[in-house]
Amino acid sequence: MMETLSDKTAIVTGSSAGIGKAIAGALAQLGAHVIVTSRSGERAQAVAEELIMKGGQATPCIFDIDDATGITPFIEKAAQISGRIDILVNNALSRASIAPPLFTMNYAALQAGVTANLTNVLAITIAAYPYLKEARGIVLNIGSAVVNRHTIGVPLYTILKGALNQTTKVLASEWAGDGIRVNQINPGFVRTDSMTTRQSAATVKMMTEMFTKLHPLGRVGEVEDVASLAAFLVSKQAEWITGASIDIDGGFSVQGATFPAPS
Ligand SMILES: NC(=O)c1ccc[n+]([C@@H]2O[C@H](COP(=O)([O-])OP(=O)(O)OC[C@H]3O[C@@H](n4cnc5c(N)ncnc54)[C@H](OP(=O)(O)O)[C@@H]3O)[C@@H](O)[C@H]2O)c1
Repeated sequence: MMETLSDKTAIVTGSSAGIGKAIAGALAQLGAHVIVTSRSGERAQAVAEELIMKGGQATPCIFDIDDATGITPFIEKAAQISGRIDILVNNALSRASIAPPLFTMNYAALQAGVTANLTNVLAITIAAYPYLKEARGIVLNIGSAVVNRHTIGVPLYTILKGALNQTTKVLASEWAGDGIRVNQINPGFVRTDSMTTRQSAATVKMMTEMFTKLHPLGRVGEVEDVASLAAFLVSKQAEWITGASIDIDGGFSVQGATFPAPS
C-alpha cells in the first residue's frame, strides 16, 4: 500500500488541466497539500476547489513558466503556505517550445523556447532547492517519450525534453548528498481534455487512431497512467530511485522498424 503524503507539500506546475491536474489529484488523494498552478487565478482556484471537495488539501497559485521574474516570488509564496516544500513536479510546458521547423525560427523564437522550457525549469528548481534540502525532498520532471525517438514536427520540443532528461540526471547526482531525489517521467501520447477541446471531434479521432498505431500496447495514454507513476515516484516506496528517466509510453520507444519478409 502506498504510504500517506499527509505531512508533505507538493507543487505541481501547470496543474489546472491535463497530466498536471491528474498528478495534483493523485498527490492530494495521498494526503499532500498541493499547490495548484495556472496562468489564470480562476483556473487554479477551480481545480483547488475540486480537490478540496474530494477531501484533499490544495492552494491555488498563479505561475507562468514564461515569466522569469515570477519564479522566486512564486517559490517564496508557495513555501509560506505550509512552511515547507517537499515535492516539486515540473510539469508546465510553455507553448514557446512547440515550434515550427527549426530553419524558420529566428533568434528570439529560439531564445523564448529555451528560456521557458529549460532555463526557467532549472531556475524554479534551484529556487526551491533550500526548501527541498530542508525536507530531503523530491523533484519530478515531466519529460516526453520524444527523448527516445524524435517525433517529426516538434524539433525544439524534442531538443528541450532531451536537455531536461540530462538535467534530471545532473541534479540527481549533484543533490543526492542532500537526500533530494530527482526523477523524470517520459510519457508517450496522452489524451488530455485540453487536446480534445482544442481540436474538432474529427481531428481528435484521426489523431487518436494515428497515435494508437504508434503505441504497440494498442492504446494512447490516459492522464491517470502518468499520475499513478508520479505518485509512486514521490512515495517512500521509491526512496532508492534517483536519476531515473522512466518511459511510460505503451511501447512507443521500443517499437522497431519492420523489415519486409524475405522473398
Ligand atoms: N499530453 C501528452 O501527450 C504528453 C506527452 C508527453 C509529455 N507531455 C508533457 O506533459 C506535460 C503536460 O502536458 P499536457 O498535455 O498535460 O498539457 P495540457 O493538457 O495542455 O495542460 C497544460 C498545463 O500547463 C499549464 N500551462 C500552459 N502554459 C503554461 C505556462 N506558460 N506556464 C505555466 N503553466 C502553463 C496549463 O495551465 P493554464 O493554461 O491554466 O495556465 C495547464 O495546467 C508537459 O510537460 C508535456 O510536455 C505531454
